[in-house]
Amino acid sequence: MSRKLIIGNWKMNGSLAANEALARALTTAGLEEKPVDCAVCPPSVYLAQMAGLLQGSSLLLGAQTVHARESGAFTGDVSAAMLAELGCKLVLVGHSERRAGHGESSEQVAAQALAAARAGLTPVVCVGESADDHDAGLMQDVVIAQLAPLAGLEVEAGVLLLEKLVLAYEPIWAIGSGEAATPQYVSVVLECIHEWLAEAAPALAEEALPRVLYGGSVRPDNASEMLSLHACGGLLVGGASLVAEEFIAICSAAAAQV
Ligand code: 13P
Repeated sequence: MSRKLIIGNWKMNGSLAANEALARALTTAGLEEKPVDCAVCPPSVYLAQMAGLLQGSSLLLGAQTVHARESGAFTGDVSAAMLAELGCKLVLVGHSERRAGHGESSEQVAAQALAAARAGLTPVVCVGESADDHDAGLMQDVVIAQLAPLAGLEVEAGVLLLEKLVLAYEPIWAIGSGEAATPQYVSVVLECIHEWLAEAAPALAEEALPRVLYGGSVRPDNASEMLSLHACGGLLVGGASLVAEEFIAICSAAAAQV
């Protein structure tokens, strides 16, 4: 089984002082000795500060969004090259809060992911169904439709974008609700995503296929059961990633699964 990936999405939270305290706690927790990949995604204004604070640690730095274009008249946006220059290793794209609040379509999300991968970043493409789609039993259809624009895109000749990314399944109704989806439910959707991947990239060996994470009200007390799912490559953590002990506990639970 490959190492799990645990990503903390800080969303629009933090301050210079709070980030420093959190970074100190995370970098002195001994995570680098554990078989787990851990990352934090602070707001973009704090990326430079966090790059400094994480220097020399095994914690990876990520951003929360990226523009698809390399440069130009895109007020308020940041490019993949800028993120890479600051030391980012990954970037979230298509988070449901970006899709809903900024009208990002799945085609735009795919373009962002491609730009990120071309700049050497790992795009973490987020997908997930709304409460209404959940109630209508449409979760697989919605997720597959969100994934579809990623198929066939090449980072360079002969290198599929699907080899270079991470996927994160976050049912919107579970985000910030305190109620994670059940492991049985998550397992069905993650297996469906894996089946889609196998069809979309038939030439890729299983080890080359991307990790698929779960996100939505992940806490220390439910992390292990999600991580024990065969199809679960890690977790995307919101609220609990802002509390050092909780994020460390989740990362430690992931290390225990290897
Ligand atoms: P919570 O863990 O706070 O539910 O947030 C999940 C999320 O949206 C992470 O990207």
